[in-house]
Amino acid sequence: MIYGKRIRMRAPEREDVPRFVAWLNDPEVRQGLSMYLPLSISEEEKWFEHMLERPANEHPLTIEVRNTEDWIPIGNCGFFSIDWRNRVSEVGIFIGDKSYWNQGYGSEAMGMLLRHGFLTLNLNRIFLRVFESNPRAIRAYEKSGFIHEGRQRQAEYQDGKYIDVLLMSVIRSEWKPITE
Ligand SMILES: CC(C)(COP(=O)(O)OP(=O)(O)OC[C@H]1O[C@@H](n2cnc3c(N)ncnc32)[C@H](O)[C@@H]1OP(=O)(O)O)[C@@H](O)C(=O)NCCC(=O)NCCS
Repeated sequence: MIYGKRIRMRAPEREDVPRFVAWLNDPEVRQGLSMYLPLSISEEEKWFEHMLERPANEHPLTIEVRNTEDWIPIGNCGFFSIDWRNRVSEVGIFIGDKSYWNQGYGSEAMGMLLRHGFLTLNLNRIFLRVFESNPRAIRAYEKSGFIHEGRQRQAEYQDGKYIDVLLMSVIRSEWKPITE
């Protein structure tokens, strides 16, 4: 487990698959992601099995918030395409349960990922891509310390038009851990 102030991150389990499918089939959640087709349980089960074969450092982490006595899963995040020679990785996140949006969980989770990436994985640069049409995500990333560094023009086709994809990153030397 990786523990933060209000959330923890755990390894996803096979039993989580139906929950992931429900999250990823929500059009509002999917709007910020590059997925655009309805997802079946069978497809997600296949993804899960394939994921287990991938390097452990690139396995997703399931974000949970504390209830009175329990922990409630609300979304997933993680590193992918880690480049170990250059110590660079891309990160991604989604909070699939919309009732938890806008309460600081996304930026807290990103802060935890940065800590894990820099202090456990010994990365030097962590970056992400975000659609220009996703101000909530952009704001959450700015709050957790990501710096705007570029724009891929018309890199995504969504709802009948091309949109830009913004690049944001944090470098180890400029990273200031958020202390609680
Ligand atoms: C993007 C996401 C991870 C952010 O998580 P979150 O917990 O909702 O984010 P936070 O609460 O930490 O921060 C959101 C910030 O955006 C602000 N915000 C929300 N809607 C906004 C809008 N339309 N315009 C500007 N700011 C907005 C919030 O007020 C908050 O800022 P504040 O704390 O300064 O008030 C989550 O909303 C999500 O998973 N969305 C769907 C999937 C997705 O888009 N993933 C990202 C792919 S790059």
